[in-house]
Amino acid sequence: MTFVQKIQELRKEKNALILAHFYQVPEIQDIADFVGDSLALAQQAANTKADMIVFAGVHFMAETAKILNPEKLVVLPDLNAGCSLADSCPPDKFEEFLKQYPDHTVISYINCSAAIKTMSDLICTSGNAIQLVESFPKNEKIVFAPDKNLGGYINRMTGRNMVLWDGTCEVHDILSVESIIKMKTQHPDAKLIAHPECKAQVLELADFIGSTTALLQFTSNDPAKKYIVATETGILHKMKLNSPEKIFMVVPGDETCSCNDCPYMKLNTLENLYNAMLYEKPEIFLPVDVMYKARKPIERMLELSLNLGLIK
Ligand code: 13P
Ligand code: SF4
Repeated sequence: MTFVQKIQELRKEKNALILAHFYQVPEIQDIADFVGDSLALAQQAANTKADMIVFAGVHFMAETAKILNPEKLVVLPDLNAGCSLADSCPPDKFEEFLKQYPDHTVISYINCSAAIKTMSDLICTSGNAIQLVESFPKNEKIVFAPDKNLGGYINRMTGRNMVLWDGTCEVHDILSVESIIKMKTQHPDAKLIAHPECKAQVLELADFIGSTTALLQFTSNDPAKKYIVATETGILHKMKLNSPEKIFMVVPGDETCSCNDCPYMKLNTLENLYNAMLYEKPEIFLPVDVMYKARKPIERMLELSLNLGLIK
């Protein structure tokens, strides 16, 4: 039997839900019950009746699923699937940082640890960040963490001046502006689409900016035939499936790295996903008080997103 067949069997036997992010390898996306961006994945996790959640993504995503389902078994195929952005915001340093801004509302991007979530008033994702920030009065004092690129983008789009934590994603932050300019010159008919975790110089050049879901929807509905894609390579799988006639070109990193695969997302394989389902580990565990505190800003995000019509 292949891993695909064995996973299909176990999924029924264990009443398991397989959630996968768009940055997963194609074979995992193809076997998942649901593939989506961080917002949709959190919503799926919040609404599931499954006994077991198999998270084909990174640690903060599986943690979010556990926080929303403290009684359920949540497994991540490889516990080393972390996130450089989440790691760029250590809880002890963030706690000290917040002491300088006692009267500020704390909005954190979902790419952060459960400990950071406990210190946050509201969680957001790249799919709802602008609208959630806009839901606060113009003069609201806000600290935004951990992604300074996403935070800077929101500041520019909303005319706000949120205080930004100095964190970045190691994959998006190194996408090369020089390469993009070269690619745009070589392919004047191509549109540049970018994830808001990219640095400002990249976003300034972009024809469209959005979450992974928004980027995918854009390429499916837009009339152009060619795209320069400034995000992680995994998204190309669904882009090509949805628009087989179109050409998608990835942006290389700077001179320190020529690849834009997320090394954490790519730790998951069909084999370790199968083993995680079979042996029910590595399991995500969190202290009860952490789950209780971290749940509030996540639920607030889901509720606000629903009220604003950003999710159904
Ligand atoms: P979204 O899929 O929510 O846009 O997030 C991108 C990302 O970097 C996840 O780690
Ligand atoms: Fe984290 Fe960046 Fe990988 Fe997303 S792409 S999981 S933000 S390191």
